[in-house]
Amino acid sequence: MTYHYPTLRRAITPETRRGVIDDFPEITQISNQTLREGVIEAWAYALCCSDFGRICDIPPDGNPGSPVLKSGTQADHLRGVFRYAQVIAREFEQAYPQVDIDWDILLAGAACHDVGKPYEFDPTNRQRWAERPADAGEPTFRHSVFGMYVCLTVGLPEEVAHIAVGHSFEGNHMGVSAECMIVRQADHGWWHVAAALGLVREDTMSGLASNLRSRPPRS
Ligand SMILES: [Fe+2]
Ligand SMILES: [Fe+2]
Repeated sequence: MTYHYPTLRRAITPETRRGVIDDFPEITQISNQTLREGVIEAWAYALCCSDFGRICDIPPDGNPGSPVLKSGTQADHLRGVFRYAQVIAREFEQAYPQVDIDWDILLAGAACHDVGKPYEFDPTNRQRWAERPADAGEPTFRHSVFGMYVCLTVGLPEEVAHIAVGHSFEGNHMGVSAECMIVRQADHGWWHVAAALGLVREDTMSGLASNLRSRPPRS
């Protein structure tokens, strides 16, 4: 059996990091410099472990093939979830000033929640997994799990890595942090509302809620 190692396929360059900011400018809103630079490094590292050059090269899917946006790129989803998480946190903070939200962790976690997607969506990995699924699994790691690995590898704190691994189905099997819960709601809510408003391909909606109906957008 051939063994595989998720190492860098190319060196991380300043251009890689610039591309991350260009595609996902909301990252600059993370006020803690260590976390902000860690988030940029996480995306640069994840991209360079794959054949994707930039975030906007990754297709706009939640999981590969389901659900899939009718247009745009992965950057549209990431930016939407980042802003949506801010809206949720602001609402509760304004209505209930006593609540305690760590905004830097929230924003870094929102920015990194799908940082494992370059690995799970990488065409070479996907072909390998499809051809020999019993060798290393299919996928070997879902993007949530690989995202946790990326976060820890680049030196981000556990609190951010926890959001990466807990934002999706894996979070159903653990207690999640308050910031992780906000990102989960933003992420899942974003997909469901996008689908209800006709932004998601109907043939890719089966993994979303059974009561979901899609209204065609205005033409
Ligand atoms: Fe995800
Ligand atoms: Fe997501």
